[in-house]
Amino acid sequence: MEDQVKLLEIQSSPRGESSDSIALTKSFVEACKSDNPSIVVDTLNVWNESLPEFDEGAIGAKYKAVKHETMTEAESNVWERIQSLIQRFQNADRIVLGTPMWNFGLPYKLKQLIDLVAQRNYLFTYVGKQYGPLLKVGKAVAVYTRGSRYLDGTPIPISFDHQASYLDFWLRLIGVRDLRSVIVDNALNGFLTSSRAAATCYDPDLRIGGGIAADPRTTSHAAAGG
Ligand SMILES: Cc1cc2nc3c(=O)[nH]c(=O)nc-3n(C[C@H](O)[C@H](O)[C@H](O)COP(=O)(O)O)c2cc1C
Repeated sequence: MEDQVKLLEIQSSPRGESSDSIALTKSFVEACKSDNPSIVVDTLNVWNESLPEFDEGAIGAKYKAVKHETMTEAESNVWERIQSLIQRFQNADRIVLGTPMWNFGLPYKLKQLIDLVAQRNYLFTYVGKQYGPLLKVGKAVAVYTRGSRYLDGTPIPISFDHQASYLDFWLRLIGVRDLRSVIVDNALNGFLTSSRAAATCYDPDLRIGGGIAADPRTTSHAAAGG
């Protein structure tokens, strides 16, 4: 029997059925599943998870864990919940993540997930002055939707984009080896609602909605399911 491929699908929009980023990741994941039935999907929508606050108690638990100190019951509970979220990343052979741009960056719930799981010696190492990845995610796809178009030589240059740049960096930092992205510019006002873009495992990296050919990421093939 073929080994299972565990795919972590991260959804970051609260807009459910109306969400462009969720429609795109779902479409991609469905195409991957029909191509490779051994794929098992774990869907994590950051708005449905009742993520714990990363507050004084959670940070206290983190530092006690580092120092192997005894935690209060509340600290143990939050640390266990953090571990269970980390586990979902550690289980993943593939990641498919979709996110809207919010105020040039990420929706705060996605950043909350990152702050919860980005724990040293779980997702990455930091030895001396060097960071090292701890996950072994061979391939991942990130789908970025945004209402405007971000392009050098236009009034909104690429330096305004703290969404794709940050998340690409973070996913590589924790151990995604082959990361491909689908960037959907000009997605405001139901850009995709009348004609949902069909994604397949073997589509090249895409930039949709701006009519742009000059993106350096348009040459190779996305294969999060392969
Ligand atoms: C709170 C909020 C902030 C937004 N900020 C930006 C922004 O800074 N730049 C941009 O281009 N679009 C922005 N948008 C538009 C969304 O990125 C865009 O509509 C996206 O396609 C929504 O994805 P979704 O349908 O998956 O939720 C924002 C939308 C919301 C709701």
